[in-house]
Amino acid sequence: MRRYAMLLAALALSATACSGVTGDTTTTSASTTTPVDTTASTSRVPSSTTGPSAGLTRPPDPPARTVGIGDEYFPQLGNPGYDVEHYTLDLVFDPEAARLGAVATIEATALADLDTVNLDFTDLTVSAVFVDGAAAGFTAADEELTIAPAAPLVAGEGFVIDVEYSGTPQSTESAAIPFGIGWQTVGNQHYVAAEPDAAHSWFPANDHPLDKATYTFRINVPEGVVAAANGTLVDRLTDLGRVIWVWELDSPMASYLATVVIGDFEIVEDPAAAEAAGVPIRHVLPVGTTVADWPGLERQGEMLAFLAELFGPYPFDNYGIAIVDGLGAALENQTLSLFDSNLARSAYFEDVLIHELAHQWFGNSVSLGQWSDIWLNEGFASYAEWLWIENERGRDQMEQLIATERDSYDGAGLTAPGVPPAFDLFNRSVYRVGAMTLHALRLTVGDQAFFEILRTYAMTFTDQSATTPDFIAVAESIAGVALDDLFEAWLIEPKVPEFPNG
Ligand code: TRP
Ligand code: ZN
Repeated sequence: MRRYAMLLAALALSATACSGVTGDTTTTSASTTTPVDTTASTSRVPSSTTGPSAGLTRPPDPPARTVGIGDEYFPQLGNPGYDVEHYTLDLVFDPEAARLGAVATIEATALADLDTVNLDFTDLTVSAVFVDGAAAGFTAADEELTIAPAAPLVAGEGFVIDVEYSGTPQSTESAAIPFGIGWQTVGNQHYVAAEPDAAHSWFPANDHPLDKATYTFRINVPEGVVAAANGTLVDRLTDLGRVIWVWELDSPMASYLATVVIGDFEIVEDPAAAEAAGVPIRHVLPVGTTVADWPGLERQGEMLAFLAELFGPYPFDNYGIAIVDGLGAALENQTLSLFDSNLARSAYFEDVLIHELAHQWFGNSVSLGQWSDIWLNEGFASYAEWLWIENERGRDQMEQLIATERDSYDGAGLTAPGVPPAFDLFNRSVYRVGAMTLHALRLTVGDQAFFEILRTYAMTFTDQSATTPDFIAVAESIAGVALDDLFEAWLIEPKVPEFPNG
């Protein structure tokens, strides 16, 4: 589901960024240097060059240079030309062998006439592809699955792709973060932490937050194994010694936030927290543990009510966290944030509970139009930590803490939060100086305007994507003053500014 003007820009861009198709490394077709129209998703592949298996399953030429959705930091990610509405991930998982057999069903609408459709996908093996029920040709290369439907797709019309695939999903390297992400197997726990670019290492996707979609997860596991995912558990079917856990997520979600958590877990409802929050709270906890075993977690409902007061209504149908081993961090997967079990036992647990919860508004409901704006996620979630401290210990202590951090900030050569290096997106500056940027805004415009800005921004871009200029425009319209100098100084200039006098 894509409701964002950048798409048009991306399409315009890819329409002009012509390159020739220079050959085909994965099919038996003769290589061709025929220059064709170039977009990864729209190139017209001359059928005479597509090799022996003509007809329904002709293999398409993989694009020599793929064109993504238009993200400067991830030129290959995403694809223009179509808009996904819904993913259904039918997963059969064998925990012992850590083996996955899957069918991904992708319901989408063509935004252009398409001879071929590209999905981001890598690492697992595709055995068959169907478009609208008919077998389709496909090639997998360069993290792209290029699909040739039997009949071209027509602009404005819906289509359904089924991708059958299997393999042992594995942690993968990211271009942007210095540790392995994606599917993690740690002991007998299996879970997904994909931000920013690893969703397509476990399911075929239009892997960019510009194309959000709703999800159904059907996870078939042996009896006794728990399988959770984003959203609401709507069914649990038993089938010959196996159980199919069916989870539905009705709010649009960026692909990197899709997760499954499989293993010796328990799904624990917290009615008291739900009462405080006004939405169901369900956690996925290591088997044998309850909320009381994770001190701090009992405040999750209260935290949700607190943030809803400041940011506007909680954007989704439910919330909770999964506590897992070996993640080494926490991640705000939509409606089901993941926490490392050691982190959940640490003194920082409450801070991080607030942080990941705040991402549900900033990052998940309002998601990024482009990855270089990552401070819109991490700066905001980090600022929420300070808001919680203000709530707990008062404004003076919070001000002191921020001033001390500002004065002792050692960026160690990091760039300003608005211009992070593509290879180190989640650096400390993005989080901490990003949060300070919001504090500087608050001191400049006053509390009332500041919280109105946050609420208006959250509401205006609910279930959509936004950019830094979008946020600045909301801030300026509410504050009634020009703020570009302030944002320029905090987000772009290398030196961390002084706070204005509040
Ligand atoms: N967004 C996470 C946070 O809130 C950081 C993060 C990005 C992450 N990618 C990750 C954590 C992958 C675990 C795994 O801080
Ligand atoms: Zn974060």
